[in-house]
Amino acid sequence: MRLFLMLLTLSSISLLATEEATTKKVIIEKATTCKACHPTIYNEFQNSLHKKSSIKEDAIHKAVWDKHPAKAKGKYKCAKCHTPKNESHQGITCVICHTITDIKKHTMSNENIYETKPKTFYSAEKGNENKKLIYKEKSSWFGLRNKTIGSPYHDIDYTNKSYYTGEICMGCHSHKKNGHKFEVCKTDISGAKSKKSNCITCHMPKISGTATTIRKTTTHAFHGFAGARNSPEKLSKYVKLAYKRLDKGFEIIIHNDTPHALFTHPLRVVELHTTLKRNSKSEALKEHTFIKVIGTNNKPSMPWLATQIIKDTMIKADEKRVISFDKVLQSGDEIEVVLGYRIATKQAVKKLELDEKMSDFIPLKRSYFKF
Ligand code: HEC
Ligand code: HEC
Ligand code: HEC
Ligand code: HEC
Ligand code: HEC
Repeated sequence: MRLFLMLLTLSSISLLATEEATTKKVIIEKATTCKACHPTIYNEFQNSLHKKSSIKEDAIHKAVWDKHPAKAKGKYKCAKCHTPKNESHQGITCVICHTITDIKKHTMSNENIYETKPKTFYSAEKGNENKKLIYKEKSSWFGLRNKTIGSPYHDIDYTNKSYYTGEICMGCHSHKKNGHKFEVCKTDISGAKSKKSNCITCHMPKISGTATTIRKTTTHAFHGFAGARNSPEKLSKYVKLAYKRLDKGFEIIIHNDTPHALFTHPLRVVELHTTLKRNSKSEALKEHTFIKVIGTNNKPSMPWLATQIIKDTMIKADEKRVISFDKVLQSGDEIEVVLGYRIATKQAVKKLELDEKMSDFIPLKRSYFKF
């Protein structure tokens, strides 16, 4: 109980500190305010691509922006999603997501509508769907024990349905059309419909550690946002590899058990590496690549120039892609199958003058089949 009281005291001190800083105006946009009471989430967030979405921290984003024709005109055009609501090239902060009240649908790209009341944060918690939490402190036992609900720093609104289905992600992730009204990227809305399985349940899985220092919980929603560039291993279970032996060879079946194309960004490429192990010798079999290439006049181009899909072999939402091999298998053979990806294709790395590491092969799923 001592510890609990101490925690309360500590947090009221940091609360005072943050209140003081608020008068300096900028603090509410800063994640460090939240760190005092949400340290686990704050630390995870530091490695996320949401934190690093600006030209200051994402070398790929910067490289593409540097080539964009609008750059010469001096207006940063990507802010809407990469650094919303701030001019200082900060990424997507805690407050950005937690104050989205609604998503407005548009043909070019959607738009987030934000809460204007300072310090009303939106979130999801099963069982609290109809509640708005205002901070209350009750003391009993002659004032020795304080019981709190809510947060001393902010109100919490649990009534927004979009936080339970992932629709909250669709202001930025749904789609983006370029000046030629060509859709450069798209994430299907079907992944943001169900409460049971959606953008949030897959990309923010519940992992161990408390969500706040004040009200202890055993788990919290992962704020590193598992994806191509951070913690991909948290997503590998949604990709399934199977095999089928045939008289004249065998098949590998890749099941993309997600509601969107396996990778959505046009820079990425997916690869299937297959190795046959026979009598302690290894033989690399034919490599297969899966990619969506956009461009103009039948040639690949930068996204703002693109008017057509040149090629699309990317594995689609919920697709089971069958890959055939004509190698006849013998008993004792072992097959190693690795499905992985590159953040950017080798050609893109060259064109954008990026660090070569960006085109390293990253394994997502590995399986062994024995005959
Ligand atoms: C002084 C401590 C304190 C500070 C500072 C603070 N919070 Fe909280 N926050 C809490 C507490 C305590 C809860 C849990 C309240 C409850 O469930 O009764 C909470 C809950 C939340 C929730 C809802 C969690 C859920 O259950 O779904 C969100 C979202 C949230 N905080 C975001 C933030 C953000 C963003 C910041 C920084 C701008 C911040 N908090 C700063 C104490 C704080
Ligand atoms: C304010 C706009 C915005 C919102 C809201 C948003 N995102 Fe993002 N998200 C982005 C941007 C921009 C990037 C790319 C950042 C970069 O790589 O520079 C990104 C990146 C990601 C990535 C990493 C992709 C990779 O390749 O590693 C994942 C995963 C992700 N978002 C999931 C979500 C989920 C889940 C939600 C909803 C809870 C969400 N996002 C809400 C803008 C947003
Ligand atoms: C409508 C919202 C939106 C706008 C506007 C937007 N982006 Fe993005 N961007 C995203 C999202 C969401 C992602 C992550 C999606 C994914 O990985 O599929 C992303 C990812 C990227 C990436 C990949 C980064 C990585 O991690 O590999 C690049 C590069 C990029 N954007 C460049 C730009 C540039 C340049 C602009 C401005 C000219 C821009 N974007 C404007 C939403 C947007
Ligand atoms: C059933 C689980 C599942 C659901 C639901 C899901 N995803 Fe994914 N998502 C994945 C997997 C698996 C990958 C590919 C592996 C990786 O990125 O490491 C992925 C990749 C991504 C990426 C990275 C793509 C890239 O090219 O870098 C983004 C961004 C993303 N998802 C956003 C979303 C959004 C937004 C939603 C909701 C509309 C959503 N996802 C729903 C499992 C899921
Ligand atoms: C890209 C959007 C996004 C960003 C950025 C973001 N959050 Fe969240 N956060 C969510 C969503 C969506 C949930 C609801 C997840 C759930 O309850 O399943 C959530 C849940 C929470 C919770 C409750 C967690 C739990 O499991 O009970 C807290 C606390 C919180 N966020 C604080 C923060 C803080 C602090 C930051 C910045 C360091 C932050 N969030 C950044 C989208 C975001």
